[in-house]
Amino acid sequence: MSMSFILISAFALTGSVVYCLVPINWATYANINCRPKQYTNINYREKNGGNVMTEISTRKRKMGDTKETAPTKPAAKWPSIKPKKNLQITPLRDFDLFTVQNFFSSAESKALIKTAEAIGFAHQGSLGPTKGEAYRDNDRISVNDPVLADTVWESGLNKLVSDIKIRGKVAVGLNPNIRLYRYKVGQRFGRHIDESVDLGDGRRTYYTLLVYLNGGPGEVKSKPKIDSSNSTGSSFEPLVGGETVFYGPRNKTVAEVAPAEGTALLHLHGDKCLLHEARNVTKGVKYVFRSDVVFA
Ligand SMILES: *[C@@H]1O[C@H](CO)[C@@H](O)[C@H](O)[C@H]1NC(C)=O
Ligand SMILES: *[C@@H]1O[C@H](CO)[C@@H](O)[C@H](O)[C@H]1NC(C)=O
Ligand SMILES: *[C@@H]1O[C@H](CO)[C@@H](O)[C@H](O)[C@H]1NC(C)=O
Repeated sequence: MSMSFILISAFALTGSVVYCLVPINWATYANINCRPKQYTNINYREKNGGNVMTEISTRKRKMGDTKETAPTKPAAKWPSIKPKKNLQITPLRDFDLFTVQNFFSSAESKALIKTAEAIGFAHQGSLGPTKGEAYRDNDRISVNDPVLADTVWESGLNKLVSDIKIRGKVAVGLNPNIRLYRYKVGQRFGRHIDESVDLGDGRRTYYTLLVYLNGGPGEVKSKPKIDSSNSTGSSFEPLVGGETVFYGPRNKTVAEVAPAEGTALLHLHGDKCLLHEARNVTKGVKYVFRSDVVFA
């Protein structure tokens, strides 16, 4: 194999420059994608038939962590999410902010963690408050998976939110951009708001969906079976900390939600989004499933 490299391109990204070295042997390395992971709606739509990647603001992502460019891991096999009966909304601030217990079963939550660990997380940081960004320190997986999004939507969320109308639109599904977050001891996400995302064709996200995959009594009852690495599961410790805290005017705490296995938390986002934070994890590891409710 040729050991010579040529400098293909450089991208200026808000103060930092990313260089991309590509081996001349194109046949072997045809999959290498030199572009920094900062999708525009246009090129993503072309590649993925109408689905748009969100979170274009993370600037320090590693190159080569897209599906196309990371062929070393086998494709994710997400657990099947079964339809639930009797799901109920617990309002924390009417329909602006509410939880749903047992949104995922214990087995589903554990299987999602296991699959996520098998895929592998990538660290997410931020420039920090001095640069106008919320403090952020956690690990993330971001995939575009319309099938998983539809399965979760149809497992019962569709019925729960069928009465919500926003600007004449109704909820029609979940953003296929599924994210999984992992917070270890000492990691947190400072006060911030979540942006609404325009998915094109009159579709827009108005709610954040978070589902805690561990924490609370469910987690303590049966230990998660995580096999892949010692950093997460094999010395099992129940989760302590990691609460999601919402603030109203004058810094008043509106709600404080402690992670509990399988519990979903939904809140309005965009211009009506409450300031919120993910508190420091003080013991164990916190896992969260994230998507957004799409209205059209
Ligand atoms: C987070 O919790 C850990 C463990 O208790 C502690 O050592 C650390 O100082 C805490 N960090 C913050 C920012 O509170
Ligand atoms: C995991 O922990 C066990 C027991 O502490 C140790 O024997 C093993 O080598 C560790 N594995 C890894 C991958 O660190
Ligand atoms: C809100 O509380 C945080 C933490 O206690 C503090 O840093 C911040 O200055 C407060 N903001 C306002 C507007 O009171």
